[in-house]
This record gives sequence, structure tokens and C-alpha cells, in this order.
Amino acid sequence: MRPYDVIMKKRNNFKLSKEEIKYMVMGFVNGEVPDYQMAAFLMAVYFRHMDEEERYYLTEIMAKSGDMIDLSSIPGMKVDKHSTGGVGDKTTLVLAPMVASCGLPVAKMSGRGLGHTGGTIDKLESIPGFETTLSKDKFMDNVKKHGIAVVGQTANLAPADKKIYALRDTTATVDEISLIASSIMSKKLAAGADGIVLDVKVGSGAFMKDIGSATDLARAMVDIGKKHGKETVALLTNMDEPLGLTIGNAIEVEEAIKTLKGEGPKDLEDLCVELGAQMLKIGKISSDLDSARKILRSSVNTGKALEKFRELIEIQNGNSEVIDDLSLLKISPKTYEVLAPRSGYVHSMNAEKIGISSMLLGAGRVHKNDKIDLSVGIRLLKKVGDPVESGEPLCILHYSSDEKLKESADMIVNAYTIKGVKPKSVEIVRGVVQ
Ligand code: URA
Repeated sequence: MRPYDVIMKKRNNFKLSKEEIKYMVMGFVNGEVPDYQMAAFLMAVYFRHMDEEERYYLTEIMAKSGDMIDLSSIPGMKVDKHSTGGVGDKTTLVLAPMVASCGLPVAKMSGRGLGHTGGTIDKLESIPGFETTLSKDKFMDNVKKHGIAVVGQTANLAPADKKIYALRDTTATVDEISLIASSIMSKKLAAGADGIVLDVKVGSGAFMKDIGSATDLARAMVDIGKKHGKETVALLTNMDEPLGLTIGNAIEVEEAIKTLKGEGPKDLEDLCVELGAQMLKIGKISSDLDSARKILRSSVNTGKALEKFRELIEIQNGNSEVIDDLSLLKISPKTYEVLAPRSGYVHSMNAEKIGISSMLLGAGRVHKNDKIDLSVGIRLLKKVGDPVESGEPLCILHYSSDEKLKESADMIVNAYTIKGVKPKSVEIVRGVVQ
């Protein structure tokens, strides 16, 4: 077999065998297939796609290219959650303690932010002292004793995906359904859960801009999960505007804590309840979604979920006083108000532009190794459907560098569309694929 033959076969729209996919992927990981041939292969997949069986093999090969985490010593079903990435998406910070406080163990490996989307690990690091790297033993121990651990992905989790993703990122081959689905699912399979709940974002701030392509991506991921024997379900959720009212790092932790206190924005709380209900059902904590929703809402109302978050912070060496004193979160005191250029209703928001605006302030990374500023971010005062007067603030930027402020503010003003008529409201969950 030669890389050339496999590239040509895919280029000519033929189906690849497991051996051919393995030859390319592992050859690339081992350095036997050079970047230029792998890039050509990825471009061939981009245009010709992969069928269900090819995706299944690609996922399996990438998952097994590194550590396969064994969670079997933790009693009960382990259910993971994954979001395809959005703006203001602090769901894990709220959802993990909520479901853990309902008796479902959470052994979570999360990522860092890249581009216009944020990452859970960066957000958690804005809690003073919080450690996002634990030894394997400590990670397992915390889940067994406390029912919760949230850490960064280990370096050897699906290394084939890591290497291929870096190449996709520079060769315009990220946004292809087979490649996205196998990339995400390879990491989920390697992370060892028994069940997987996927939050597939759809809208201006997501990879998938329309419901049709989001449904196709969800279908591809659910099929891969099920074929690997994992109970898998996907919710299609709205990302036509940021989730909640904050975008950044420390500022999103603040909002997550408020949400756990029952004082958060409705879209965030509802999304956590919907994702959590699917997790509790798969995890057999609840037999149906309605009772799962009730259990989750009561975990917030009784303060159980908030106490679980306090416990998570303590067992990962963070300062849990942030729960009672939000001023311990370092949010930049330098603020700038972005004003509405006209009166009317917020008709739409370009969530991607708002994500980029936050990144420009320093809250996100342009390149993988960039250092980010955890103290900056955006506080939205107006979202889709809200009435607004000319000159009224749309949002507040927390910034630290005057230089970065102007570009960010210009971007955000362009992200809002204000019209004379009130737009129709959109539900946070737009569909379910199972
Ligand atoms: N997230 C991933 O992990 N992989 C992709 O390909 C896209 C988003």
C-alpha cells in the first residue's frame, strides 16, 4: 500500500477499507506519511466524504491511538457530555455539579478554548488555586469519593486526532462532518464513559450554521457512539446568540455560580436541565426525562448543586470562598459600554462576531499556545428580542488593554442587528437526535 493509492482512491470517490484508513492515520502519527500527503488525503475526504462504516473505523483508530481511560472501577454508569463549541458556553461548570449532586458520577476531561469559542479548563483556572491537572490516581479517587472531577485532557488522549486536527486547522479541512464527528467521538470513546450526551450547537456562533447540517453532524456522532456500544443522544441547541449573559473566563465562572444559586439566565439554566435530564436517564438515575428535570431543578433550589461545586473546587485545591464572595474572581474593573446606534428591538446577534470580540479583548486564543487574559470579557445587557433605545448600552466590555478595546468594540457593535419589529423567540433546544 502507498499513501498515493489511498489518496487517489478517496479522490475518485471510492470507499476505503479499515486497513487503508489505519495505514494513513497511524502512518501519519508515526511520521511515515508526510504532512503533504495527509493534507491531500484530508482534502479528498473533505470533498468526497466518508460513509458510516468509514467514519466508524476512523473514530476507532484515532481513539485507540493513545490511552483508553478505564472508568470501570467507579461504580455505576458513567455518562459524559460534550459540546461542539459555542460562545458563552459555561454549561459544564453548571451541569457537572448539578448531575453529580443527583448521584451520577462525573469524570470529565475538558478542553481549552480556541478561536471564537471558549473552553472549560481556562474558565476553571480563573478560580484562584484551582488545579486542572490531577494524577490519574487522584482523578479516579476524587470521582469515587466525591462523585466529581473535571480536568484537562491528558496529552496522550487520542493523539492521532490531536495531530490530524492541527493539520486540518491549517488546511481548511476542519468543517467536514465525518472529520468533526470522528474527531469528537474518538476523544469521547478514549475518555471511557458508558453513555454520551452531545450538545450540538446550531447558529451563527457554531460550526454548523443551519439546522440541516447540525442534524447531519448529530446523526453521524450518535451513530458512531451507538455502533461502539455507547448509549448516545444529541440535543441540537441554539447558538444564534451567546449562551447566557457573559463571555470570557472569570466572568463566566461568576455567571455559573449565580446559576447554581438559582439566579442565572433562563437559557443557561434550561439547557443544563435538558442536557442533565438526558444524562440522568442514560445513567439510570431517573426512568424518564420529566422526573429527571424535577430532580435537577430541585438540586439547584435546595443548594445541593452549589455545594457540589464548592466540593469540586476544594478537592482540586481552589479557593471555594469564591462561591460566597464573587469579588475573589478577578474580573477587570476597566469597563466600556457599547451603545445602541438606534432604537428598536435586538433582531439578531452574530454570536461568532461576539466570540471574536471577546477573543480580541484577550479572553481567547488565536493560536493554540497563546496566553489568555482570564479577567477580560463581555457582559451582555441586551439579547435577541429585547427592546432598546438609541444610546442605551447593549453590553459592557471588561478590558485591560486600551489597544485591544477599539477593535473589539467595533466588532461587537456590528454583531447586533436592531430592527423596528420584535423577532420570534427561539427555544434553546431545537431538536433531539437519538
Ligand atoms: N471539536 C473537535 O474536537 N474536533 C473537531 O473536528 C471540531 C470540533
